[in-house]
Amino acid sequence: MNKTIIVSNRLPLQVSINDDELEVTPSVGGLATGLKTVHKDGNGIWIGWSGLTSEELNPELEAKVNDAVTKEQCVAVNLTQKDLDLYYYGFSNRALWPLFHYFIEYTEYNTESWEVYRSVNQKFADKVLEHAVDGDKVWVQDYQLLLVPAMVKAKKPNISIGFFNHIPFPSYEIFRTFPKRKELLEGMLGADLIGFHTYDYERHFLSSVKRILSLEVNFNKVTYNNRIIKVDSFPMGIDYEKFEQAALDHDKMNEDEKSEIQKRLDQHLQKEDGVKMILSIDRMDYTKGIPNRIKAFEYFLKKYPQFQEKIRLIMLAVPSRSQVPQYQKLKQETDELVGRINGEFSTVSWTPIWYFYRALPFQNLIDLYTSSDVALITPVRDGMNLVAKEYIATRTREDGVLILSEMTGASKELNEALLINPFNNEEIADSIKQALEMPKPEQQQRMQALQKRVSRYSVKKWANEFMNSLNQVHKVYQIIEAK
Ligand code: ADP
Ligand code: G6P
Repeated sequence: MNKTIIVSNRLPLQVSINDDELEVTPSVGGLATGLKTVHKDGNGIWIGWSGLTSEELNPELEAKVNDAVTKEQCVAVNLTQKDLDLYYYGFSNRALWPLFHYFIEYTEYNTESWEVYRSVNQKFADKVLEHAVDGDKVWVQDYQLLLVPAMVKAKKPNISIGFFNHIPFPSYEIFRTFPKRKELLEGMLGADLIGFHTYDYERHFLSSVKRILSLEVNFNKVTYNNRIIKVDSFPMGIDYEKFEQAALDHDKMNEDEKSEIQKRLDQHLQKEDGVKMILSIDRMDYTKGIPNRIKAFEYFLKKYPQFQEKIRLIMLAVPSRSQVPQYQKLKQETDELVGRINGEFSTVSWTPIWYFYRALPFQNLIDLYTSSDVALITPVRDGMNLVAKEYIATRTREDGVLILSEMTGASKELNEALLINPFNNEEIADSIKQALEMPKPEQQQRMQALQKRVSRYSVKKWANEFMNSLNQVHKVYQIIEAK
């Protein structure tokens, strides 16, 4: 039976060593949380990095890691500390991530990290080649692995390859500045189908292909090395039913079943009569607009002082890429801003911002989503943003207001949210006020429309549509070859 091989930098589970024992935790981030559902349903395998480096492993530990990942239908790629430093922290997260998110001033290029990026991409491709047989489909994910499609295609041209980019694809004027622009495009074009979250990213990619590689582009098809490559947009969804069901179950919980966080939330919601919760959840990343959000919240408290002591911002940030200097600076800036605002506005009985810097279990995310009147999501650039969709899915009473940055891929689908420009404090402050004062019928009207759309385009549908399209492309390709 043919199988689908998912390939991504990170596996859906992360292995670490704690007191000489292996610890397995779920990976955080849109890619892992989204694809996990799809992978569980299939008979395929998932190839990726386990979370440990070769230096941390001895033969005994390596066998344990392999056992742990095999149980989850996964295959581990071993990375050395140098690989991790130059491929992951280096080229992927100090060059590609900022470049693709329009942070050109953060983009650092050097030959050594490029060489290691290439060699690690080859490691992933070799692992794919070890497991793939003719008739299989390979689905490569994201910016860490841009060269893998061409590396696999070169050795096994009959395998059908899909590539999905989970982050934005920048405009040609940004992309053209990058020294390895040509090589990156050629790597991606090893795929038979290339997918993006939105039509804009697709358009930017095609424009770069046309202008940098001088290739023929016909509508959304590229002709390259006697092959036709299809480029299309597939906005990624969430496992809607999982979030909806979790919220429904949450509603039925008795006191004993509630988490400590939920008990605390209840306590505050009851004690401080009328206090409303505004929620933000993200990885601690400079693309997420965290300082902008805090400053806009501060501005809101000043502009509309009647809301002081009546609202609270709960900010959950999960640690991410903390060895990259910009992430360290962001953490420091966030700590300072939260400290300053809490210092300035707190009263004996009220702290305006509750800030958690950690990953939380799924159940606690549900506690927060279901207890918050407003979700405030303000990235300055974001490929999609699944948190916005998760918030919508958990609002089973059809209330709650989503304030969403127009710089997210998700905003293209979620028109009934209050859309804001994350660089405009005035607009954010006014939207917070509008959200807090929005009559229930209007909340419900907007939420129903959002729920209808998000539930219809679930992550399963996203994956099926991508896979169906990949099948079609491959069939057409075989017909052309036969002629
Ligand atoms: P990104 O992929 O850039 O991290 P997304 O919003 O698309 O952004 O996806 C983030 C995913 O990570 C969501 O599924 C969200 O539930 C999860 N997540 C974010 N923060 C936390 C946290 N502190 N604890 C656990 N899961 C989190
Ligand atoms: C985004 C990227 C993913 C990445 C995730 C978490 O969603 O698109 O590729 O896995 O962030 O980041 P990390 O660097 O921890 O894998």
